[in-house]
This record gives sequence, C-alpha cells and structure tokens, in this order.
Amino acid sequence: MYAVLLEKGRSFTNPPGKTNMRKTIQNISCIGAGYVGGPTMTVFAAKCPDVRFVVVDSNPEKIAAWNTDNLPVFEPGLLDIVRKVRGKNLFFSPDIDRAIDEAEMIFLSVNTPTKSYGLGKGMAADLKYVERCARQIAEVSRTDKIIVEKSTLPVRTAESIRDIVSDCGNRVRFRVLSNPEFLAEGTAVRDLLEPDRVLIGGEDGPEGAEAIEELASLYANWVPDERIIRTKLWSSELSKLTANAFLAQRVSSMNAVSAICEATGADVDEVAKAVGMDSRVGPKFLKASVGFGGSCFQKDILNLVYLCRHYGLDEVADYWEQVIRINDYQKRRFAKMVIEKLFNTVAGKKIALLGWAFKKDTNDSRETPAMYVAAELLQDQADLHVYDPRVSEERICEDLRFMETWEGWQGSKSLTEAQIQGGVTVHKDPYEAVDGAHAALVLTEWDEFTGYDWQRIHKSMRKPAFLFDGRNILPGRAMSEIGFRVYQVGKSG
Ligand code: NAD
Ligand code: UGA
Repeated sequence: MYAVLLEKGRSFTNPPGKTNMRKTIQNISCIGAGYVGGPTMTVFAAKCPDVRFVVVDSNPEKIAAWNTDNLPVFEPGLLDIVRKVRGKNLFFSPDIDRAIDEAEMIFLSVNTPTKSYGLGKGMAADLKYVERCARQIAEVSRTDKIIVEKSTLPVRTAESIRDIVSDCGNRVRFRVLSNPEFLAEGTAVRDLLEPDRVLIGGEDGPEGAEAIEELASLYANWVPDERIIRTKLWSSELSKLTANAFLAQRVSSMNAVSAICEATGADVDEVAKAVGMDSRVGPKFLKASVGFGGSCFQKDILNLVYLCRHYGLDEVADYWEQVIRINDYQKRRFAKMVIEKLFNTVAGKKIALLGWAFKKDTNDSRETPAMYVAAELLQDQADLHVYDPRVSEERICEDLRFMETWEGWQGSKSLTEAQIQGGVTVHKDPYEAVDGAHAALVLTEWDEFTGYDWQRIHKSMRKPAFLFDGRNILPGRAMSEIGFRVYQVGKSG
C-alpha cells in the first residue's frame, strides 16, 4: 500500500490548472489566523478547490474579521481571492476542537515570539502556543492526522510535538511535517502563488516519506515539482532560520556599509548597485535603511543564536548576533543623527514621522524601526506627529507602550505613559502631520510618499526644514533644490 502511494507521489505531476488527482486529503485545518495562516490557506483553497480548508484561532474577533471584507491582515490582492473562496471551500471558524476533529491534515500557524520571561528570556522562541496546539490536537483527535509545522520553530521542535501527541493514549497515528513559510509581508499573495521553493521536511522512514508526498501533492496543483524540496525534518526547520538570518545579514551588511559611506562621502546606493551586479551576490536585499523590522528577522536570529549557545557553538552564536547588533546600532544612529542635525535638541519641536509599518504594503508594525526612532526622540522631548496609510492609531500607541518596558534602553533611559500621551499625535492626513514641523522623517517606503507635493510640504514647514529619508526613496538632489536640508542613509548629505 505504502509503496504504491509513494510511487504515485514521486511520479505524480498534475497537468497545469488541474486539481490534484490523489484524493487522500479532503479536510485541512489551520490553527492560527494571522499573517501566515490566513493568506496561506486562502491561496491553498484557491488552488485546491476539492479540498475543504478551515482556519481557526483562539481570538474570536480575528475570526469575525476574516468573515468580513475588513480583513485583519492587509495584503495587496488578498481580499479578491478571499472573496472567491470564502464560504465555498475556505471557512474561518472559532470552533477549534471541531476543526481538529474533522481534519486529516492540520497546519500550525501560531505565533512563536521571543520569550519574554524565564529560561531563554529575550533569546529563545516561546513555544507555549505551539505546545498548547499539540496538546489540544492530542486530546481531541479520534482519527489519524498529519501535523504540519507552518510556524517558524527551533530545530527539533517536531520531536517535542511528536512526543506530546503520541502519548495521548487514543491510538491515533500522528505524523509530523515541517513546511516553513517563506512569504514576505506586502507581497504575500505573489510569494504564495509563485514561491521560489516549497520546503517539506519529514520523519525518516516510509511513513515520513508518505506524509511528505501527501503535502507535496497539494502543492503540486500550482508549484512545479522541481521547486518542491523534500528534506529531513531537522534540515527543514534549520533552513527556515538560516534563510531569515541570511536575508537579515545582507541588510545589516549594507547598513554597516552605510555608516562607512556617510563617513567617507561614498553613496550607499551606488555601492549596493556595484556589489549586487556581481551575479554571485545578486541585487536583492541590499537596500540600506533605518534598520530592518518585522516580527521575524530579529526573533529568528535570536532563536538561532540561542540554539548555537545551547550546543556550545559560541563563535557561531557571536557571528549571527552581530547582525542584530548592527540593526540596533542603525536605528539608534538614525535617531541620533536627527537630534544632532536639529542643533542637538528636539525638545518641544514638531517632528513628522511619515510611515510606521515595518515595510510598505502591510498594516503590520511589529518590531518596526519607527517605534525605536520614536522612542529615542520622545526621550529627547520631541513633539511627534505620525502618519501611516495603514497602521491604526491604536496599534501605534500599543507599540509605544511596548517601548515603555523595553529592556534595550541604554543607560538609565525609559519611556513613560505621560511621554507617550503628551508627545505623540497620530494623523489621518500627511499634510497635517508635516504642517509647521521642523523635520519630516520617512520611516517606511510607502509609494505614496514619492507622489506628495513636496514644494507644498516645504512651504508649510518651519525653516530650516529638515528631511530625513530613512528609506532613500526620495530624490535627494531635487529635495535639496526645493530647499530642504536632506539627510539620507549612507549618503554624506
Ligand atoms: P500572528 O500573530 O499574525 O498569528 C498567529 C495567530 O495564532 C494569532 O492570531 C493567535 O491568536 C493565534 N494563536 C496562538 N495560539 C493559539 C492557539 N493555541 N489556538 C488557536 N490560535 C492560536 O503570527 P504570524 O505572523 O502569522 O506568524 C505565525 C508563524 O509564522 C510564526 O512562527 C512566524 O515566525 C512564522 N512566519 C511569519 C511570517 C510573516 O511574514 N508574518 C512569514 C513566515 C513565517
Ligand atoms: C521576511 C522574509 O523576507 C520572508 O522570506 C520570511 O518568510 C519572513 O521574513 C518571515 O519569516 O517572517 P518580512 O519580514 O515580511 O519577510 O519582510 P522583508 O521584505 O524581508 O523585510 C524585512 C525588513 O527588512 C523590513 O523592515 C524591510 O524594510 C527591511 N529591508 C529589506 C531593508 O531594510 N532592506 C532591504 O534591502 C530589504
């Protein structure tokens, strides 16, 4: 039986546009309706119309939002696809037990943040959400299941999941796969529709290989077989951490170079172009910035560093930790430059922050560099005026509250509720945010910023009007000609 399945799985390739002919998996559930679970299952549902997908979450408000057109996740193109499949073969439900019971395959897409307490605090991934899911699956299941790790997890987490579920005493057969997600926010739909690769790690032996093929056959509906990589479980888990570490390392490398550029008069964009045109290096992910943000780069590298230290690989841990250090340095360096250029004080000065999201085309602001820059400026008693096209005022205030307790403050600094309340105004109109400001800071590379009437903005600002472009998206020379004092990352100004 197994040999036949495996053989089928290996040789199976669907004609383009045809649905999967292997009918083993009919019902799939996904625990976690966040930035990964929601978009991923939406694309699966669109590409596998004969399979029923149920996305569940412990947050009922999030589930309710997924059932409206005001989705909790903003991603270009997502709503169109959700509308096509929702209520047909894609369902968002608060009933987790039922979704587990009915599924043959369960994706775990829950959050795995950095631990904020206890052993491994500030470094290790907090696996409590994953463990809760595993326990719930063990308790509820009455039929065999394939559990798929979609969340990013430390190497050998699959072993813990297997341990928890296999000891439940209900004679159910569980198999565990690692299928990390490589989508980037802002381009999630495109990344899911046309992935560079799909990675599936499985347990050794025939059962593991069979489970891999079950999942591979679903992807085969739209992903060419040569892009589906089958590996050992541990290689798959480690590849995800490594991929993020490599991407972040490129950004930190260019950000480190940006400091040298500013000191020497070189231009970081010109250097990036010259370096990236070497086909061995490639042009992507070499954009110097105010620092990288997002929920994953920092968390995954810290996780990798923790893992290295756990295995006694201190030199390797130090190597990767430096990627985070440069990122922290870059965020601080930017805030410090703003204060210094504004005659060494921003106290009482209106400063406009354009952009709060950690990158364009998302409403996500987790670990956004904007919140670190804002916190540093608030420390210096600036009067901050924030505008972002997608991030809500509520979210911006929550981010700043996180900064109140942030332990990375240097020296005795900290932020208080009074500073946040008194020092931050959130605007719905960018022109109001900059009106009468001493400086405008571009902190997210939203396309709309390049289309603004910068002459009008300059006129409305205090003189001298400062423009700090933390994303290098504005034409520096043209902005200078308008009359701004322009500072861009990695350019000597
Ligand atoms: P998220 O916070 O947006 O979503 C996670 C969801 O899981 C939340 O809605 C939460 O309520 C829910 N949840 C937590 N515990 C639960 C439980 N026991 N039962 C039911 N629901 C539960 O997180 P995300 O950004 O979607 O990331 C999820 C995972 O995917 C993380 O491991 C992350 O590292 C990884 N990842 C994220 C991205 C990204 O771009 N955001 C990309 C690739 C991989
Ligand atoms: C990143 C990876 O790109 C995804 O492959 C991965 O799946 C995801 O993390 C994850 O595991 O969560 P994401 O964080 O959504 O995706 O967005 P990126 O495009 O990677 O940008 C991350 C940060 O780096 C942003 O703040 C961005 O502005 C910054 N960045 C990126 C730069 O400063 N310069 C660059 O050249 C590229």
